[in-house]
Order: sequence, then C-alpha cells, then structure tokens
Amino acid sequence: MILYFSGTGNSQRAAVQMAERLDDELISVNRLIKDGTTGSFRSDRPWTFVAPTYSWRVPVVMERWMESARFEGSREAYFVLTCGGSVGNAAPYARRLCERIGLRFRGLAGVAMPENYLALGPTPTESECRAIMEKARPRIDELAELVRAGEPFPAKRATLAERLESGPVNVLFYRCFVHDKGFSVSNECISCGRCAARCPLNNIRLEGGRPTWQGTCTHCMACIGGCPTEAIEYKSASRGRHRHYVMDDELCWGSEANSR
Ligand SMILES: Cc1cc2nc3c(=O)[nH]c(=O)nc-3n(C[C@H](O)[C@H](O)[C@H](O)COP(=O)(O)O)c2cc1C
Ligand code: SF4
Ligand code: SF4
Repeated sequence: MILYFSGTGNSQRAAVQMAERLDDELISVNRLIKDGTTGSFRSDRPWTFVAPTYSWRVPVVMERWMESARFEGSREAYFVLTCGGSVGNAAPYARRLCERIGLRFRGLAGVAMPENYLALGPTPTESECRAIMEKARPRIDELAELVRAGEPFPAKRATLAERLESGPVNVLFYRCFVHDKGFSVSNECISCGRCAARCPLNNIRLEGGRPTWQGTCTHCMACIGGCPTEAIEYKSASRGRHRHYVMDDELCWGSEANSR
C-alpha cells in the first residue's frame, strides 16, 4: 500500500507513479489528517510511505500520523522522500520511527523534485519545474522495482553536515521557523476558499472572505502555492517567486475537491 502526504503535489505525483508501477492501493494521508482520522490499515504487500522532505527528515506531521495509525499484515516499510536536493541523514530517524510502530525499515530514498519552499527562498521557474519532474520519473520507477523485488533501498553513509542538518538543525528549524506569522493576503484574494479547504491542519479560517492563519502550521506551502490569484505572500521571501502547485485535488480530497 502506498500512503502519501503532500503539500504541493510532488509527493502525490511520486506516490501515484509508485502505485501504478506496483499496481497497489493509494491512500491520501492529507485527507486523513484533515479529518482527524488515524485509521487502521491492512496490506499483505509492503508499506511505502511517500512525503516531502522537511528539514532533512520525514515531516513531523507524517511521523505523528504514522504513530497514531495501525498497520496490519506486512511488516515491511519503505520511505520515498521527495526533496529539493537533499534528504540529509533522514534514514536513521525513519528507522527509529519504524521501530516505535512495529514495522521493519527497508530503506529511505530521496527523489529530487521542484523546490516548493516559498517561505524560505528561490524556487525554480515553471519550465525548470517541468524538467525536474520529468527527470524524476525513471528514479521513481527504479524505486518501485526495488519494492516489487523485495530488495532494500540502498543505504549511504551520512556526512557530518548531513547528520547536523537532520539532527540539531531540524529541531531548531521547527522551533524557530515553522509558524504562520509570516503569511499575509493581498487584495488579489477572490475569496474562493481554496486555501482553507486544502490546509491539512485546518489552520486557515476565512474571515470576511479572506484567510486568517490560526497558529498551527506545518509549512506545507499548499495555501500559498495553490492560491489561484497568488494573493498570499510569506514576508518578502515569496515575492515574485514561481508558485509550484501540481496537486490533483480530486485525487487528494475525493468528491469534496470542487470546494478545494
Ligand atoms: C517546510 C519545508 C522544508 C523543506 N526542507 C527541505 C530539505 O530539508 N531538503 C530538501 O531538499 N528540500 C526541502 N524542502 C523542499 C521539499 O521537500 C520539496 O519541494 C518537496 O518535493 C515538496 O513536496 P510536496 O509537493 O509533495 O509538498 C522543504 C520544503 C518545505 C515546505
Ligand atoms: S486561495 Fe487565494 S484567492 Fe482563494 S481565498 Fe485563499 S487567498 Fe483568497
Ligand atoms: S497554513 Fe498553509 S502552509 Fe500552513 S499547514 Fe496550512 S496550508 Fe500548509
């Protein structure tokens, strides 16, 4: 079974491709988190968890959800992290997560996808994004073949810098940087409500037709990346930057997609 969390759609794309190659079931964790559903799952085939890389690790929001869910049947767990360039030393943390929830860690692999972090800095242009996504396809096929064959994902030795990134830097990053105080909305807002509907943490409330952020944000970038009029900014970091949003909303959210 392939279970994905995705802010702007890269990880959803990777998960869809994995599911197609493996002819396996696909589950949107976004929807389960938003609905407050922990869930109990059964599969006799390996579990593949697909998510973005947040500060060189599996996103905390995904880890927490996995810790609350039940996985029955297969004990094998693979991780595919889409990233802008590096997953750092994410693997041992995913291994420990598996130990906590009774799964057998079979490896963590990074797949380079368009950088979506508008709150931090430069993002690729639309044509660059397309090229990066095309380049990712053979890599995802390769990973699917390893899962099919029951082989582990290859492990690599982490550098000191990578250990620092996934260790203390990750902790500081969440503590100091991951909050919603930097968001603002301009008069370009057309009150469509998509930002609120797509927020996996229900952190956006519309007041007078415009989004207000409620203090529980995981910086997934769905609101700012997917706004149809680019009305949302994050301080000055996002100004003039390309918004990457390739999520298939209907696939992610089901029949309620039209309101999202
Ligand atoms: C909060 C946050 C932290 C990120 N940290 C990293 C990182 O440590 N390394 C990296 O290569 N990319 C990082 N990125 C980029 C994303 O991992 C990458 O663009 C990913 O493919 C987005 O997936 P999605 O579209 O499924 O949300 C980060 C993005 C966000 C929003
Ligand atoms: S998605 Fe954009 S246009 Fe729609 S309500 Fe939110 S800020 Fe306004
Ligand atoms: S407020 Fe925006 S960035 Fe924060 S979790 Fe919700 S959709 Fe993601």
